[in-house]
Amino acid sequence: MPDSEKDQEPTQQVEAARKAFEQEFGRFARFTGSSGDLSGLSLEQAIIEQRLLAELRTRHLGKKSALAASKKLIGRVAPDLRATFGQLVQSIEGRLTKVLDEAEQNLKNYIENERTTLESIDVTLPGRRPRRGHRHPITLVRERIEDIFVALGYAIEDDREIETDFYNFDALNIPENHPARASQDTFYTTEGFALRSQTSTVQIHAMQRRGAPVRMIAPGRVFRRDTPDPTHNPMFFQVEGLCVDRGITMAHLKGTVAEFLRRMFGAETVTRFRPSYFPFTEPSAEFDFSCFRCKGAGCRICKNSGWIELGGSGMVHPNVLRAVGVDPEEFSGFAFGLGIDRMCALMYELDDIRLLFENDVRFLEQFE
Ligand code: DAH
Repeated sequence: MPDSEKDQEPTQQVEAARKAFEQEFGRFARFTGSSGDLSGLSLEQAIIEQRLLAELRTRHLGKKSALAASKKLIGRVAPDLRATFGQLVQSIEGRLTKVLDEAEQNLKNYIENERTTLESIDVTLPGRRPRRGHRHPITLVRERIEDIFVALGYAIEDDREIETDFYNFDALNIPENHPARASQDTFYTTEGFALRSQTSTVQIHAMQRRGAPVRMIAPGRVFRRDTPDPTHNPMFFQVEGLCVDRGITMAHLKGTVAEFLRRMFGAETVTRFRPSYFPFTEPSAEFDFSCFRCKGAGCRICKNSGWIELGGSGMVHPNVLRAVGVDPEEFSGFAFGLGIDRMCALMYELDDIRLLFENDVRFLEQFE
């Protein structure tokens, strides 16, 4: 206790303590009374007031408060004045306690009510329906392709997008310095891995895993170092097909691709094969199908040719079978590959393939 206070009359001291309290309590005064005035107070503010009020109580009624010090003086007051002084201290303490209790109680009730209101939910309110999404057009086309091949007895393989040169090239009969490597230039990691430039890599993985016979398709993402334009994107989708068994011939390849295209584009669809070259097939062929829009008469979609070019195919090269330990004397097979996004662009008559990868919902929303 400072000396100045010690010298004061005990009555003056206790009065000073009361004054100090009244002054500080001023801003909380409106919280007293039977229910207090807490209008316009937010829950956060009320919680702050509650804390400040608790601090105020400690300062003015706590063990180290001026009032507590005054109490200690009671014994030292002259006996004839002691009773009066004692009553004064008690009545002041009583008043402080009363207003503090009131304000505290009112704040506490207010906070409880506010919390209950905030946390309560009206279960009778109509729900907010989440926006219903839908599949991407490429997914729609991929799923149709998958359904057709699953019905033909094919398994669906999913495999990695990051590859070693062995899977992307060597095992597919594309040795180093082969020109096919240049036409399928892709992206490389610093560790010598490559983003696969074709789903043909899955032929190798599937045969390594399953051996022969095998029937599978592998839809997936592929990458090439292409400059984006309306018909190219450095990332796109292909589906690979592979069928290896005893006695598989080119007739099986033609029958399978033709049946697939009939189921995809209608029973009247005609398929044609043109001789071509791929390192991993021998013989190789590209396949076209009669335009689904003009039925071969010629239109904008087929550029007036009546035919739409779709993919590559051929009889699996013996070197590919050897690379995965399948005996080409015992087994033979066919393979094919086509671009899913290209097919998607055709079916939905998109004039820019890049629209499929911009993820603009205004575009994507149109495909259900
Ligand atoms: N991988 C080839 C490409 O990306 C497409 C292809 C052609 C796949 C012939 C095949 C095939 O399985 O037999 O251009």
